[in-house]
Amino acid sequence: MPITKILNKVGPSTSSGTSLTKEEIKLLLAAEGDDKKLLFDKALQTKLAHLDNYVHLRGLIEYSNICTKSCLYCGVRSKNPNFTRYQLSDEEVIECAKLAHELGYGSVALQSGERSDKDFTDKITHLVKEIKKIDNGSLGITLSLGEQTEETYRRWFEAGAHRYLLRIEASNEDLYYKIHPRDEKHNFQTRLNCIDTLLKLGYQTGTGVMVGLPFQTLDDLADDLLFFKQKDVAMVGMGPFIPHPDTPLWQYKDQISSAEERMELTLKMIAILRLMMPEINMVAATANQTVDPMGREKAIAVGANVIMPNLTPNEFRENYLIYPDKACVKDKPDQCQTCLDVRLAAIGHKVLYNAWGDSVAFTKKHAPKTTCV
Ligand code: 5AD
Ligand code: FES
Repeated sequence: MPITKILNKVGPSTSSGTSLTKEEIKLLLAAEGDDKKLLFDKALQTKLAHLDNYVHLRGLIEYSNICTKSCLYCGVRSKNPNFTRYQLSDEEVIECAKLAHELGYGSVALQSGERSDKDFTDKITHLVKEIKKIDNGSLGITLSLGEQTEETYRRWFEAGAHRYLLRIEASNEDLYYKIHPRDEKHNFQTRLNCIDTLLKLGYQTGTGVMVGLPFQTLDDLADDLLFFKQKDVAMVGMGPFIPHPDTPLWQYKDQISSAEERMELTLKMIAILRLMMPEINMVAATANQTVDPMGREKAIAVGANVIMPNLTPNEFRENYLIYPDKACVKDKPDQCQTCLDVRLAAIGHKVLYNAWGDSVAFTKKHAPKTTCV
């Protein structure tokens, strides 16, 4: 089937987006040349029609690199002894959040290695409450703190967090176990249950995958997109896989596609998902910028609408290297802001300052229904 025929299905799209079959998605994922350009153009038009040219910011606070897990791709895994572990003090976290507020970011995202002990979960509850006190709750709070019990997720929600990111990493169970150890700590079903719990509790729930993993096929990627649609998530993050020398998956570095190919495939994933889910929030992940200096702008230009500038104090950043050569590790927050404004203006976009930037898909779904009499 020609690409134009598939793209013509994307009419004056409704909020619920275009239904694409797995075969159609695979054809779009394989698009090259003019076909790829048509896909990217259509995705940009779709985004502009639904969400305008605004980009939302979340000030990223990398709270701690202490982690109980050993994901086979991740540089911060517990079995990597080659760097110093840290946890920010309460004051440091609050300073970062205040800075986000001063810079007009509207929201912060608190991310950390995974821990579920009581000291940690209590500390997060406390920090969420403290961040909420800044200017009477003016900051939106996204958490990205891995798998937790329903009780913990509920406590954090009640404390004031309203968005949660938990990437499925791979929606194919077999692939999941090729990139995670097969033990009680890394369980595919638990991950799925956590995503369902977050949705049930009323979080704006985000998930996502890495693109270009060893063993990953176009079938897997098409299924990932269908999984996001089926779960009806509010947010998605996708970025190219970047091999880290201190991880088990490094051994496959010569067997995967090139960094440019992984980047292009990521852009196609973003563009296709924008057609399928026109009103969700989609992040232009830092991994894109690590692979390509223009990577974040490219992601924005094909459908992403969120950027997470790093606010972690610089002295800690080099110890939060989930993948090597991470972008912006040496930038100062105010430099980041000017740099972002200029870079986005160059592609016809602008930051929406001082707003939470919630997912339109989520807000519409949960808006009180008006009854017609
Ligand atoms: N390359 C790219 N992305 C990675 N992540 C973790 N390790 C890597 C890597 N080596 C992503 C995971 C995780 C997110 C915080 O970073 O998808 O969910
Ligand atoms: Fe824990 Fe990556 S394995 S943060």
